Amino acid sequence: MHSGIVAPKGVWWKPAGPQEKIWVTIAFIWCMVLFAMMPLWHFRGGQNPAGTRSRVEPQRYVERVNKFVNDYKVGTEAGLPVVKPPPGAEVYLLGRMWQWYPVLQLEQGASYTLHLSSQDLNHGFSLYPLNVNFQVVPGYDYGLKVTPNVAGDFRILCNEYCGIGHHTMVGKIVVTPKS
Ligand code: CUA
Repeated sequence: MHSGIVAPKGVWWKPAGPQEKIWVTIAFIWCMVLFAMMPLWHFRGGQNPAGTRSRVEPQRYVERVNKFVNDYKVGTEAGLPVVKPPPGAEVYLLGRMWQWYPVLQLEQGASYTLHLSSQDLNHGFSLYPLNVNFQVVPGYDYGLKVTPNVAGDFRILCNEYCGIGHHTMVGKIVVTPKS
């Protein structure tokens, strides 16, 4: 009789040969190496963003952005406020369906803390034509230390699909040359 709980009669399996043992051992050691790399890379890896992370209610973040805009607004462009914070300032950028708010004007060589968060859902901050990518997540405020070293006009493209207007979600950062 065959059953899942009654062992079949006779020798129905073969002991693992030396080669199989070697390969299982190598695979196991490699698994352990990869497993150890995860925490190691988290604490020692250079890919971790050098900034602050904190939780924030999306509505609270919107209030911070609005205060930032009121404090440093210098003009308007295509219906969006243009904001020029002083060097060293906390800079607040908001991602939402489907715009980056506001337009930022930064100074070449000056350092800022660039805060990123979303009002609604996940967006992706990518700075064109530079290779800067960052997830913009509602409920989290990421403060990145930035020092723009190249003057010019930069576009912020959303690189996380966020709905019907995703492809129109383009923002702007202007870096003015050192005077
Ligand atoms: Cu925001 Cu795609």
